[in-house]
Amino acid sequence: MSRVAYVNGRYVPHAHARVHVEDRGYQFADGVYEVIAVCGGRLVDVEPHFDRLERSLAEVDMRRPMSRAALAVVVNETVRRNRVRDGIVYLQVSRGVAPRDHAFPGPGVRPAVVLTAKSVPPARGDAKAAEGVRVVTLPDIRWRRCDIKSVSLLPNVLAKQRAREAGAFEAWQVDADGYVTEGSSTNAWIVDGEGNLVTRQTDTAILSGITRRALLEVAEREGIRVVERPFTVAEAQAAREAFVTSTTSFVMPVVQIDDRVIGNGVPGSISRALRELYRRYADGDGGA
Ligand code: PDD
Repeated sequence: MSRVAYVNGRYVPHAHARVHVEDRGYQFADGVYEVIAVCGGRLVDVEPHFDRLERSLAEVDMRRPMSRAALAVVVNETVRRNRVRDGIVYLQVSRGVAPRDHAFPGPGVRPAVVLTAKSVPPARGDAKAAEGVRVVTLPDIRWRRCDIKSVSLLPNVLAKQRAREAGAFEAWQVDADGYVTEGSSTNAWIVDGEGNLVTRQTDTAILSGITRRALLEVAEREGIRVVERPFTVAEAQAAREAFVTSTTSFVMPVVQIDDRVIGNGVPGSISRALRELYRRYADGDGGA
């Protein structure tokens, strides 16, 4: 089945989807994005994703490319044309195409919008989750506005590559005080000795994950206590359980951090239960 992309108002074959060389997203990483999950043909948490997109746009003084209703139509149509039942939609907005100049272009330059969608078989993540994944830690070298979902991802790219080269799934980035901020494309969580969930509070050091937010809701509903505070690598390594969350990995159990095995080296019961609960949330009551 051939894939279709949405590029600035047109649906085009994925293989021929192009942006101009002077797109500011390309030249300056002057753009923001969202990744939205599709579960059983439904978009998961689409409204919170749109809220975060609007916030990112506002934080970088970029105007909305279209109304929220119009964007919803384009997102749904991209999913439909790609026949995605389980997978993701990628949505990117850049400041548009203009002669290269660091300062913003004039008001006549419209933001550029690109969407792609792809199917991802759920079994792939489930197989990984059954075994659990390894993470490595490294210094967080990013800017001070990680709350903005910017396409400027070079430090994240380098971190993920370091993880891959170490045979790990993810890299946890560590701030100057020794606290874990987040993964290169995931939020980081641990389960402490009392069975409480611990995850860093949302400030400008991390992205406010939509999966993180949903899981907070799920945990509350289940009566699981959550403490939003920073934790160190040593604390994580000594934790009862650890896991990461994201649109693409849902709740993914972590069984090793650097050279230290977590718990008894298999996915913990709380992480497994939360993955299942989140799956139900995404399949049903969290869908839109
Ligand atoms: N990444 N932290 C970072 C740095 C991320 O890039 C992401 C998402 C998350 C988790 O956010 P959410 O739960 O809203 O997906 C946390 C997406 C999936 C990506 O870049 O592909």
